[in-house]
Amino acid sequence: MGYPKSIGTILVPIVVLLVSMNYMPCKAQLTTTFYDDTCPTALTTINDSISSAVSRNGRMAAFIIRLHFHDCFVQGCDASILLEGGEKAAPANDGVEGYEAIEAAKAAVESVCQGVVSCADILAVAARDASVAVGGPSWAVRLGRKDSLDSNPEQAATDLPRGDNNLDQLIASFARKRLSVRDMVALSG
Ligand code: HEM
Ligand SMILES: *[C@@H]1O[C@H](CO)[C@@H](O)[C@H](O)[C@H]1NC(C)=O
Repeated sequence: MGYPKSIGTILVPIVVLLVSMNYMPCKAQLTTTFYDDTCPTALTTINDSISSAVSRNGRMAAFIIRLHFHDCFVQGCDASILLEGGEKAAPANDGVEGYEAIEAAKAAVESVCQGVVSCADILAVAARDASVAVGGPSWAVRLGRKDSLDSNPEQAATDLPRGDNNLDQLIASFARKRLSVRDMVALSG
């Protein structure tokens, strides 16, 4: 076992690797099986917590789906709405409820696998489970989102549609997120 002849022996392959990584497309990173090895009970734990929250409060399913919508509309689905003093503090999020159901689901998940499952994934799964709990549609949730470390109220004010927007403004607001009129109508329903 000898040492490499020069620092170049180590650096060249690293640089080649890093440069080639720049050309890899950033897609298909999320998978439905993301926690299968690291936290196999994550999904049932979230569902147990969310379905019981929904059964205790009839408005909870809608609250959670709206929370997911407001999270995703600002910086993507990164749980940025959950950070104190961030988007949460924006007037556009004043009427948003259901935070406690997400906190309870997060606490339940932490009790089975500490520090593994992101809040962003929990919120995305919670919205699906809330829909199913009230007889709504189900969908496969791909997982592996990272939580945001920052969140600001100004961004929420810029990105979220407002109650006094006219139709053109609403259409433009969804178009900025690459959502069609059809998507807007379906989501609002
Ligand atoms: C199309 C653009 C949208 C606009 C302009 C809009 C605006 C609003 C406004 C002004 C409120 C009342 C807030 C308050 O009382 O404090 C509200 C409530 C709500 N919105 Fe939206 N919203 C939109 C789309 C959506 C979508 C896509 C969803 C769900 C995916 C959603 C779910 C909800 C829910 C669950 C409530 C609360 C209802 C309750 O109090 O029981 N909204 N929205
Ligand atoms: C969550 O649990 C409920 C009640 O046990 C069940 O009906 C539902 O199908 C489950 N949801 C999902 C998405 O698996």
